[in-house]
Amino acid sequence: MKILTSQNEITTQIDTLKSLGKIVGFVPTMGALHDGHLSLVEIAGSQSDIVVVSIFVNPTQFNSPIDLERYPRNLEQDAAFLKKSKCDFIFAPSVKEIYPKPDNRIFDFGQLDKIMEGKFRPGHFNGVAQVVSRLFDIIKPHKAFFGEKDFQQLVIIRELVIKFNYNIEIVACPIKREKDGLAMSSRNILLTENIRKKVPIIADILKKSTTFAKLNSPINTKNFVVESIEKVEYLRVEYFEIVNGNSLQTIEKWDETTFVVGCIAVWAGDVRIIDNVFYKNNIT
Ligand code: PAJ
Repeated sequence: MKILTSQNEITTQIDTLKSLGKIVGFVPTMGALHDGHLSLVEIAGSQSDIVVVSIFVNPTQFNSPIDLERYPRNLEQDAAFLKKSKCDFIFAPSVKEIYPKPDNRIFDFGQLDKIMEGKFRPGHFNGVAQVVSRLFDIIKPHKAFFGEKDFQQLVIIRELVIKFNYNIEIVACPIKREKDGLAMSSRNILLTENIRKKVPIIADILKKSTTFAKLNSPINTKNFVVESIEKVEYLRVEYFEIVNGNSLQTIEKWDETTFVVGCIAVWAGDVRIIDNVFYKNNIT
């Protein structure tokens, strides 16, 4: 496994491998790696000859300077973690390498980035699109692997690929959870011991809501989820939307579409947790 920091180095290596007919799989990350990231690397390894993992805390997608500052970073630990995986190259560029000059591009994703994460984190998806397009242009992978944990991000990346004609297959990877159900996240280490004990209820209620949904409308299911979570001390729901999994528009009736996802953001003390649940999935 090689760790590269410059665009030229990684481009040269990847171009050579591609000219030998190797299929290149790419897993973009912001580091502070956990088993959720690792599951993407393993899926990438099973579907490609060469796996590139990028580690880059992208400043343009943080809408809060405090969040950016306290985002966990540890390249050495991440590299040790990936050594045992199917990763062949870590690309860990500096901010200057990715943004030699300020990136002023504004992406238009229609309604996709106006709601949920986009509404509560203005500019976030524009920053994600900036960095992912930069990374796609540098690495030019055949396939890129994204977690369903960040469901809205996945939908927006698919849109980015269509809009800019990237010849890249986007592969969706399932959410990896802790034993108690909590979706793995780099931010989980910021939870206090006390609050950490409370947060598995989020996944638990989302799961229960799939049974509730069988006899109740989407709006009643939404209320069930929000009310159940907000009964718990320290937890506050920022949003919970039951949406069409392609358009991300809120649905009113279950039979409106064949792909229905419930997306949630919860403040657990001062840590923000996102998760989701599939109510209907005829896509995969
Ligand atoms: P990051 O939060 O580091 O996540 C990197 C990738 O890992 C994303 O595709 C995310 O959905 C996936 N992931 C995180 N936790 C997961 C879990 N528990 N199970 C499965 N997959 C999980 O998402 C980003 O970074 C950034 O926005 C990025 C795309 C790298 C652009 O900066």
